[in-house]
Amino acid sequence: MEEKNRNSFTGSLGFVLAAAGSAVGLGNIWRFPNLAAKNGGGLFLLVYIVLALTFGFALLTTEVAIGRKTQESPLTAYSKVHKGFGFIGVFAYVVPFIIYPYYCVIGGWVIKYMSTYLAFQGQAAVADGFFGGFITHQWQPILYTVLFAAMCFVIVYKGVEHGIEKYSKVLMPILAVLVLFIAVYSIFLSYTDAEGVTRTGVQGLAIYFVPNFDGLTFGGFLRVCLDAMGQLFYSLSIAMGIMVAYGSYMKREVNLSKSINQIEIFDSAIAIIAGMMIIPAVYVFAGKESLDAAGPGLIFVTLPKVFDSMGSFGQYFGLMFFVMVLFAALTSAVSILEAIVSSMMDKLKWSRKKATLVMALITFVVSVIVCLGYNVFYFEKSFAVVKDGQILDFLDYVSNNLLMPIVAIFTCILVGWVVGPKMVIDEVTRNGEHFGRKWLYIIMIKFVAPVLLVIILLGSFGIFG
Ligand code: PHE
Repeated sequence: MEEKNRNSFTGSLGFVLAAAGSAVGLGNIWRFPNLAAKNGGGLFLLVYIVLALTFGFALLTTEVAIGRKTQESPLTAYSKVHKGFGFIGVFAYVVPFIIYPYYCVIGGWVIKYMSTYLAFQGQAAVADGFFGGFITHQWQPILYTVLFAAMCFVIVYKGVEHGIEKYSKVLMPILAVLVLFIAVYSIFLSYTDAEGVTRTGVQGLAIYFVPNFDGLTFGGFLRVCLDAMGQLFYSLSIAMGIMVAYGSYMKREVNLSKSINQIEIFDSAIAIIAGMMIIPAVYVFAGKESLDAAGPGLIFVTLPKVFDSMGSFGQYFGLMFFVMVLFAALTSAVSILEAIVSSMMDKLKWSRKKATLVMALITFVVSVIVCLGYNVFYFEKSFAVVKDGQILDFLDYVSNNLLMPIVAIFTCILVGWVVGPKMVIDEVTRNGEHFGRKWLYIIMIKFVAPVLLVIILLGSFGIFG
């Protein structure tokens, strides 16, 4: 099977930054620090790193290798690996389709906050009803969602080399510098509250890094592992076709296993540094309890208060923060859209133009419905599976907790047992490259990863409480 006229990344750096752009997203910025603070700080970090080097590495390598070997996008790639397993591709195609519209809605929220800080209106964002008032507003969320979606469309429309690669090469380094700068600044913060208690950034850092074994039971440790696994899975953007699509654009002479290592290091480093930026800042200005504010509440409700307490610099701090979040969200959203568009191009033989435009229309309709989920379609009684959830939370649950583990489990069965790990190993070493963790890979893909994935799936049914 030789190169068709397929788009490709110019080289290793383009691929690594684009894939890292997909991996580094909102999950690194709020989800990771939050889980770490909740799960005994350093202990969680340790478990996460071990899992990233074993479990994450095996899954990521598999998907990229499938993409590069077949030169196909997710919808068609799996059936090319084995006729009977084309259904994995269908699932892997449905996941980004579900995620994309609501990811754009959240991207829209980020633009709203960024523009609020840009207009030096940061104080407004502190008011109690600001977030709620905005998401329930009749047309504002729709407007911002369309703005965010439009940015993604322009990038994907321009193609792999001139769109995705070019933008990732600019946005990712800026993002890394911003996260690092804000993290260093956070460590030096200190604040004395109304009761005269002084809290410092260094104390906050200790909560984050020092392993906390207080009252840790075996069950508690399992919980930490489960959270770390779920986070890793989400953070590496696996099981939704993205890495297959990006792998299919990777040149054959690029060293696959080296690139995978770089993506893992980039993604984990940004997550860890994001914790150094958020945990001390929230701890210093809002106290330890506020670290428990999970989810979007942390970024959109708690952090504006933190920025406000910083005095006049808080305005710039907030602006920098939301610019960084926007870049992270944009490169992730672009990768989701690319997974969908590339599948349409390969399956239906559509041009990139046509596929992108059709997706623009579909996204518009679905994301308007998601936006209206907070007013017109607001359900007093939320969906059975998600507590306090609206349409957005429901879509999130179905894709992340059900479909993604299923895609990954069947991928392990396909590669570990049906076609055999040799297929992936041959792809990784096709130019005679050294594959240092080959044995680890085989053990992972055949035995460990499928078991861990079944545990994740069961966990999402609430079996472990
Ligand atoms: N991996 C991204 C993160 O860590 C999340 C993401 C989800 C990216 C879905 C693409 C698609 O935030």
